[in-house]
Order: sequence, then structure tokens, then C-alpha cells
Amino acid sequence: MPCMVTVGGFYGDEGKGKVISYLALKDNVAVAARGGVGPNAGHSIVWKGKTYKLRMLPSAFANLETRLLVGPGVLVNPQVFLQEVKDTGTEGRCGLDPLCAIIEQKHIDLDRGSAHLSGTIGTTGTGTGPCNVDRVNRQVKLAREVKELKSYLVDVPLVVNELLRKGRNVLLEGTQGTYLSLFHGSYPYVTSKDVTASSIAADVGVGPTNVDEVVVVFKAYVTRVGAGFLKGELSPEEAAKQGWAEFGTVTGRQRRAAPFDFDLARRAVMLNGATQIALTKMDVVFQKAGGVTEYEGLPKDARDFVESVEKKVKVPVTLIGTGPAVEEVIDRRPF
Ligand code: GTP
Ligand code: IMP
Ligand code: MG
Repeated sequence: MPCMVTVGGFYGDEGKGKVISYLALKDNVAVAARGGVGPNAGHSIVWKGKTYKLRMLPSAFANLETRLLVGPGVLVNPQVFLQEVKDTGTEGRCGLDPLCAIIEQKHIDLDRGSAHLSGTIGTTGTGTGPCNVDRVNRQVKLAREVKELKSYLVDVPLVVNELLRKGRNVLLEGTQGTYLSLFHGSYPYVTSKDVTASSIAADVGVGPTNVDEVVVVFKAYVTRVGAGFLKGELSPEEAAKQGWAEFGTVTGRQRRAAPFDFDLARRAVMLNGATQIALTKMDVVFQKAGGVTEYEGLPKDARDFVESVEKKVKVPVTLIGTGPAVEEVIDRRPF
């Protein structure tokens, strides 16, 4: 800290929501600001026995002192935003930038009705691609034009940079994953903008010289929803046998699964300028890792895996996920 960016290292759904909520509590984050595409993302947070699935709000809500903001780069679906404010009981500490672009029904219809987008690419059907097209064409509606959002409007870049200037901890929350990036991913099977760390910072209005740490989140295996190549892909039956069968937060589709990919991990570290790795779902791959919160408590095969990641990828694994709940984390950071 004080300014940390979190990003996905594979194809999204690495468990960023859980890592972010842990960091917000542990580091007493003053503001968490969301970057990325928009409500095509779904972060799951298991907090006090309840599961929250957030598509618009930052995942840091578990810390009651954290301000939750959405950066101007992000596309906003007002209904989803307002519903999440209600569900999380965070009215009063949520805000979005007046320059956020608005997803309208026509964007959703275009996304879902397109043989290319929903059919070939397998988009989430949330309207984000067509909305970004309108934004580039400079024909999109902005948050400042939506009456229901008026009371939430704040100058997000200004708030975030002022807090940074005061030395407070700030978390910039990425969505999707490196290989879904429009620039660096497996084109055309990608999302509608870049989602690497530099873009997440730009989405919120933080310049590169003000970023201190970049945490890339990897799952202990790889999953992908939608179309596109997946190296070492298991059949759905094999994935289920391994315990790797997962279903998408936004679309409910079964996620395709493959073993951990060191080549992808190395390149993700390079593209994001990662300084730390968070490795999630270790309990799914290594049974005895479930709920462990001290590194020494991990079984040897799990520790060997962590050490092989560090050796091959050359970045320290500082956070290890050992279960879906926010507090099921091994934190190896020195302080
Ligand atoms: P996107 O922004 O959509 O890319 O999502 P995300 O990275 O926040 O991940 P998502 O919540 O969609 O999927 C991760 C799933 O793994 C969720 O169901 C989490 O509750 C769960 N999860 C996260 N970390 C762990 C972990 O360490 N162990 C286990 N068992 N589950 C985890
Ligand atoms: P779009 O972002 O809805 O246009 O979808 C483009 C591709 O990105 C599809 O393969 C989606 O499944 C994938 N995608 C977009 N957002 C996420 C996410 O948050 N998690 C996982 N996959 C995503
Ligand atoms: Mg997700």
C-alpha cells in the first residue's frame, strides 16, 4: 500500500472479490474504487455466512469505514448499481463518477441479439460491448444525466487522489482477467476494453507514478467462461471429478477448467507489472488446505506448489486463499 491495484491473471473469476474484501478489512482501506468494464463482472463475497454477488460496487463493503466508488472508465447499469447499494446496506458511502457511461436496454438487446457477440464470442449479454461502441462513437448517456443517480455523483479521481496525498490506503479494483483484455487477450474472444493494471488505474484516474503495488490474482487452476482456446481444457466430467466445476456469477454458465498454466502466469505478471501474487482456491486442489490461515499449516504438496509458482514466475505469493469466506486467507506479507 498505500495504492494497490488488484487484477485477474487468467480469464476472470480468479476470486478477486474475496481477495479485495480481505484486503479492505486487513489494511483498513479508506477507499476502494472499481475499474474494469462494468456489470459483465461478478465478484462473489462470502461474508458473515452470506454470499453477495457484486457486479457494480467494489467488493470492499465488509469494512464499514471504506468508501466504495466506481471510476469514470466503468460502464454503469443504474438498476444493478442501485439494487446493490440496497442489498449491501452501503447507502451513504457509495458513489460513482458523473462521467461513467450508462448501459441502456438497447445495449443489452444488441448484445443478446447478436449472433457474433452472444453466439460466437459467448459474451455475458449485459450490454457492455455495445455500450462501449456507443461511448467510442461519443453517443452514450453519462451518469450525470440520470436523475436516480444524482445523489451518488462524486468526482472519483479527485477523492481518490486526495486520500492518496494524505497517505491513506487505496485499493483499485480490477475486473475480468488479463487474457480477456481487448489488447492483450485471446482476440476476438475477449471483452470490450483493456483490463490490465494500467487501464484499471486509468479507469479511476490514478496516474502510473502513484501506484505502489500490483497484485495479480491467480486461481490454483484456470477457468474460462464463453468461447476461446483454453490450454489443457478438461471435459466437464473430468472437471467435476477434480472438484473444479464452477458456474458463472453473472450468467450461470459452467466455467471451463484446465490445470494451472505457468506460461500464462509469467506473461500476466509481465503485462501487469505485478509485484505480488494472490493464489486462490488452494483448498480445492489441496484438500488439507481448507480453512488454514498460517503458511506452516499447509500440507507439503500445497507449499511445494506455492514455491514452484514463486520460482517459475519470480514474484512472491503473498496471499493464499484457503476457502470462500473472506477470512480464509494466509497472509505472508511482512507487515
Ligand atoms: P470477476 O470480476 O467476474 O472476474 O470475478 P472474481 O475474480 O471476483 O471471481 P468470482 O467471485 O466470480 O469467482 C470466484 C469463486 O471462487 C467465488 O465463488 C468465490 O466465492 C470463490 N473463492 C474465492 N477464493 C476462494 C478460495 O480460496 N477457496 C474457495 N474454495 N473458493 C474461493
Ligand atoms: P463481454 O465482456 O460480456 O462482452 O464478454 C466477452 C468475453 O469475456 C466472454 O467470453 C465472457 O464470458 C467473458 N467475460 C466478461 N466478463 C467476465 C468476468 O467478469 N468473468 C469471466 N468472464 C468474463
Ligand atoms: Mg466473476
